[in-house]
Amino acid sequence: MKEENELFKIFPTGGCPSVTYVKKQDGRVENKLNDGLDDRGRLCLITGPSKSGKTTLYERVLAKRGLKAIPVGCNGSMSAEDIWREALEKAEFERTTSSETGEQKEASLGGKISSKLGWLVGVSGEASGGIKRGDTSSERKQRVVAKPSSAHLVDAMGESDCILVLEDFQYLQPAVQKVVFQQWKVLIDNSVSTIVVGTSHRASDIAKANSHLAGRICGVNIKQWNTEDLKEIIIKGSRYLGVALDAEIRKTIALESAGLPAITQEVCRELMKKLGVTKPVEERLDREIPIRWVYQVLYKVASTSYARILPRAYGRIVDPSWTGRGRTYDLILSSFALNPLAFSLSLPEVRRRLAEELPLRESPPADDDVSDMLNNLGEIQDEIGIALLDWNIHRQLVYITEPSFLFSLRWRKPKERPASSVDVFDQIMGDFSKKS
Ligand SMILES: Nc1ncnc2c1ncn2[C@@H]1O[C@H](COP(=O)(O)OP(=O)(O)OP(=O)(O)O)[C@@H](O)[C@H]1O
Ligand SMILES: [Mg+2]
Repeated sequence: MKEENELFKIFPTGGCPSVTYVKKQDGRVENKLNDGLDDRGRLCLITGPSKSGKTTLYERVLAKRGLKAIPVGCNGSMSAEDIWREALEKAEFERTTSSETGEQKEASLGGKISSKLGWLVGVSGEASGGIKRGDTSSERKQRVVAKPSSAHLVDAMGESDCILVLEDFQYLQPAVQKVVFQQWKVLIDNSVSTIVVGTSHRASDIAKANSHLAGRICGVNIKQWNTEDLKEIIIKGSRYLGVALDAEIRKTIALESAGLPAITQEVCRELMKKLGVTKPVEERLDREIPIRWVYQVLYKVASTSYARILPRAYGRIVDPSWTGRGRTYDLILSSFALNPLAFSLSLPEVRRRLAEELPLRESPPADDDVSDMLNNLGEIQDEIGIALLDWNIHRQLVYITEPSFLFSLRWRKPKERPASSVDVFDQIMGDFSKKS
C-alpha cells in the first residue's frame, strides 16, 4: 500500500506532480500566467477542458512566486454573495492559521463567519463596501455578514500573499456569472490580482462584454497537449523509476491520452503496477514489454476511472427517442473523435473531417441545422445532462470540454489494437442509424 502511494506521487492524477511535471509548450503557458500576475489588478482567466492541467498550472506558478491560492469552488446553487462569503471565510482562515497559535486556529476553524471577521475591525473602510469609519466593530461585522461583497475582499487580499481563485466558473448560473463579473470591478480598481478557472469560454465572453474589465483580463487558454509534451511525462517518470519504455509504447500512450496529462499519468502508473514496479529499481529494467499490455492498461483505466462519463453522455446520445437536433450534435461530436483527436475545431474543419470520414449512409449536417444546434447548445446539453461541447462565437470555434469522453469511447471495450477513426465514428453515428 505504501509503495503504491509512492507510485501515486510519481504519477499523480490529482494534485501537482513533482517528478513528472512538464512545462507545457516550453513553458509558454506558465509565462502567460506569470505575465498576468506581474501586473497587479489583473483578472487571469484560465480556460481549458476538464483534466487538462488548469489547477496544476496555477498551483505551480503561485508556489514559485511564494503566493498561496484561496480557491472557491463554484456550483449551480451559489449566488454572488455566497462566493464572496466563502472567499472571506477562507481568507480569514489563512490569516489566522499563518499568524496565530494552534489553539486559536482550532477556534477559528470551528467558528462562524460572524465570529471570524475580527480583522475587518481594523480596516481602513475606504474600499470595504458599506463599512464606515465611525462604525463600531460589531456594526462592521454585521454589515459584512449581512451582505458580503467583493469590496470586503479588497482588504482581505490586498496586501496579503493570497490570491483568490474562482474554480469551476462554468457551473454558476449565467445570471450569477454576470453579476460576479460586474462586482469584480472593485478588485481590479484596487489592484487585487485574481484568477478565474473554467472549462467553458463563457467566462471570457462575459468578461469581454463588461467594458470596465477591458484591458484588465489576461486570458490563459490551455490547449490540447501535444504528443511530445505527453511523452515527456512518460520519459521523466520511467527514467526516475529505472524502467525502459520503448518508443512504440511511449508513442501509443501519448497518442491515446486524448491530449490529457491526467490520462498519461494514470496509464503510466497502471503500467508500472503491471510490471511490478512500485518504486525506483536498483538495476535498470530493460526487458521487452509487449504492446498489448499497454492496450490492457488503457482499457483498465477507461473502464474504471473514466467509466462514469459514458452512461451519462453516451447513453443519452444513443437514445432512440432523441432525434432531430440530436443528429447534428452527434455529427459534430464525432468529428472530434476522428484522428487526430482535437480539442477545438472551426466549422470548416468540422466539415472537412466529416467529409473525409463520413460513411456513405450519412450526409453532412446542413448549415442551418449547425447554427440552430450551436445557438441551442445550452438547452441541448441540459437535456443530455453533461456539457461535452462549447461554442465560442468570437473565435468561431467549437471546443470539447470533456476530452476524456473521446478516450472512454475508444477504450470502453478490450482491444487488440487502438480503434480506428471509423470505429469510433461508428460508435456514435452507427448507433444513431438505429434511432429512426
Ligand atoms: N504540467 C503538468 N505536467 C505533468 N502532469 C500534469 C501537468 N498538469 C497536469 N498534469 C496531470 O494531470 C492531472 C490533472 O491536472 P489538473 O487537476 O491540474 O487538471 P484540471 O484541468 O484542473 O482538471 P479539472 O477540470 O478536473 O479541474 C494532474 O494531477 C497531473 O497528474
Ligand atoms: Mg482543477
